[in-house]
Amino acid sequence: MKKTQLFISSLVLAFVLQSCNKEKKLDEVQVPLPTTEEKAPMGNPDDVAAEPGAFKMMKLPYAYDALEPHIDAKTVEIHYSKHHVGYVNNLNKAIAGTELEKQTIEEILSKLDLENKVVRNNAGGYYNHNLYWEIMAPKKGGEPTGALAEAINKDFGSFETFKTQLTEAATKQFGSGWAWLVVDKTGKLVVGSTPNQDNPLMPNMSISGTPILGLDVWEHAYYLKYQNKRPDYITAFFNLINWDAVAKKYEAAKTPVPAVK
Ligand SMILES: [Fe+2]
Repeated sequence: MKKTQLFISSLVLAFVLQSCNKEKKLDEVQVPLPTTEEKAPMGNPDDVAAEPGAFKMMKLPYAYDALEPHIDAKTVEIHYSKHHVGYVNNLNKAIAGTELEKQTIEEILSKLDLENKVVRNNAGGYYNHNLYWEIMAPKKGGEPTGALAEAINKDFGSFETFKTQLTEAATKQFGSGWAWLVVDKTGKLVVGSTPNQDNPLMPNMSISGTPILGLDVWEHAYYLKYQNKRPDYITAFFNLINWDAVAKKYEAAKTPVPAVK
């Protein structure tokens, strides 16, 4: 009798447990866990705008992920939508209500009072980043052609020598700064670097002239993907140089601008 009671009790217990289990399954909502492969949604560069002011945010000529795998999408997004727009906003605030508001960025930079650190940093940041985005494009790299190629061969000896010199300038720039390819006042191409957001248009720089190519070596330009390996980022940058855009800048820079009366 006891055995029969025990058997029936076991059956009842098994039924109750199974029912609870079924109810539990019905109540549970399966939420997929994020995987490491999933990427956070990206913003749209067209949505980025500077606050009202004399200078506007330049349009990014490609999507945030267009420079992959050489420069990752997140780095481009943060660089453009946080750092670059920050320089534009701070420049506009610094020059609001002053004579500088009516000047071009080239005029502001070439006549800059180097002691005016706010304008120096932010006018430089605005100009330098515009150039940086402009002279890169997806699936570019290679070597220049035409007059620019001839000038590089004439002034550096070869494209490889130019590449070595730019790489060295970018690698050896201590801390934050930029490496440049510049047309100097005699029309010659030269390579050099400047610290922080300084650039070759500013007075009393170690390299002087019109920049036609700028390489940002601030850590914000590469740290997410390359960490401390700046040389790897510099190597990757050469795969993105839009030599057609650099050539247009070369043509404009070597053509003397008529003096303003
Ligand atoms: Fe930057």
